[in-house]
Amino acid sequence: MVVASLVNTERRMLKAMLAKPDHTWSLGDILAHCEWQDQAVAVGAGQGLADKKLVRIIESTETEVRLGKNGLLASDNGLLEARLWDWYNSTDNPTMSGLQSSFEKFETGPGIGLLKKLGVVLNAGVFACDNPSSVTEQINDRQAFLSAIPAKLSEIDGNMLEHFKNRREFIELVYVTHRTWSLTKTGAKIDAASLVETTTINEITPELLQSDEWKNAEFRAFDVTLESNTPRTGRSHPMQSLIERIRHIFLEMGFSELVEDYVQTAGWNMDALFIPQDHPAREMQDTFYLENPQSIDLPSDLMQTWSEIHQSGGETGSTGWGGDFSTQTSQKGLLRTHTTVNTIQYLAENPEQACRMFTVDRVFRKEAIDRTHLPEFHQIEGIIMEEGANLQMLVTTLKTFYAKMGYPEVRVRPAYFPYTEPSLEIEVKWRGKWLELGGAGIFRPEVTEPLGIKHPVLAWGMGLERLAMLVLGLDDIRQLYISDLEWLRNQPLI
Ligand code: PHE
Repeated sequence: MVVASLVNTERRMLKAMLAKPDHTWSLGDILAHCEWQDQAVAVGAGQGLADKKLVRIIESTETEVRLGKNGLLASDNGLLEARLWDWYNSTDNPTMSGLQSSFEKFETGPGIGLLKKLGVVLNAGVFACDNPSSVTEQINDRQAFLSAIPAKLSEIDGNMLEHFKNRREFIELVYVTHRTWSLTKTGAKIDAASLVETTTINEITPELLQSDEWKNAEFRAFDVTLESNTPRTGRSHPMQSLIERIRHIFLEMGFSELVEDYVQTAGWNMDALFIPQDHPAREMQDTFYLENPQSIDLPSDLMQTWSEIHQSGGETGSTGWGGDFSTQTSQKGLLRTHTTVNTIQYLAENPEQACRMFTVDRVFRKEAIDRTHLPEFHQIEGIIMEEGANLQMLVTTLKTFYAKMGYPEVRVRPAYFPYTEPSLEIEVKWRGKWLELGGAGIFRPEVTEPLGIKHPVLAWGMGLERLAMLVLGLDDIRQLYISDLEWLRNQPLI
């Protein structure tokens, strides 16, 4: 049982220890007997065995004295005072200038200080010493001390330690942990013969599964608590993932997707939707009108119908907006300001067949860029045209969509759009606040009747970026489009 749970390094260490069950093992012992170079392997295996109560670890911390930078130099080249003393003894006339010419400049100053403290005096530029054997003895003691280092703090001479502590970077004190390992009673009972090292399999490959090798092999268990690197692989941009998710939700709810061009006419973008030709939103400051194509031909009977509706309501019973209607205005080329331009064209082409359509696509408005506005953004547009379609159905559809997106709290409020009646604003609760995400309503007769649309049409258009801000928890809409790789890598899967 226990053996099966041991990894190879633990097996090897335990087996080595079972050869001398009463021995207390040092790190060196373990490394030698297990034929390991890396002490981390031994420490890891020992810890693993201790966790399984097979081995006992005794740790002791100790201060060790080691040579510092200058201590190492001295141990290679000899202590400065020793070299000076040799020079003194081998020179007939040990003068200051003689010393200066025999030693490096940086050595002479401290060197003279050292000699003086040892009992060498300087008289009129000549060195002299009363008690040379005492000097030799002191220097020998110092050299003996240095050659015994590294050593445990508790085992070395205190005075000597004080002396060298005062010399810059000669010695350093280091705290070291010593470990020893010994078998516990349970550990000692393990049968050494059972401790066979096995091939452990880290990865399951098709080759492995095809061969028979896996039958006798052991599989390494996953440790989900270990730190690991996140693989840097490609992934969808969060906006793309969000669009995919929205697509799935609408497809699931029985909708079909509509993909259309964003170069459109003012006629379809506005006239068809009964937006008066003098509506402020049509002005240059809101709409991007195109230079090329500046104008796109529209069938004259279609423009005639819109003209009648706008001026007098045509045959719909409406009074229209009055005023003049310009077919030139209708044919102006523009970048669509909403995706409703596409759903209305779809209905014009398919006026009788009940349908549920959606589109997630780009729209353009002359907005100043700020935290919540972009001149290019996306709308999630949809229509339901069928017999008996009503407001309740519209609200339920929107609520269902947002609930599937993870926002169960949705409310609608009265609003105004020239092309719907009634008109709604959709709000979603997020972090305790109601946020406006889009508009909706039932197309007015001024919109549907001239196109021969059979049944009531429920329609909505919602902001995709606004929704993305909720989903991704953003304060600034621009974050979605600045290609910040670090941010992109860390986005959750949507
Ligand atoms: N087109 C509207 C907008 O851009 C949204 C909307 C679509 C409203 C359909 C009502 C019906 O804000």
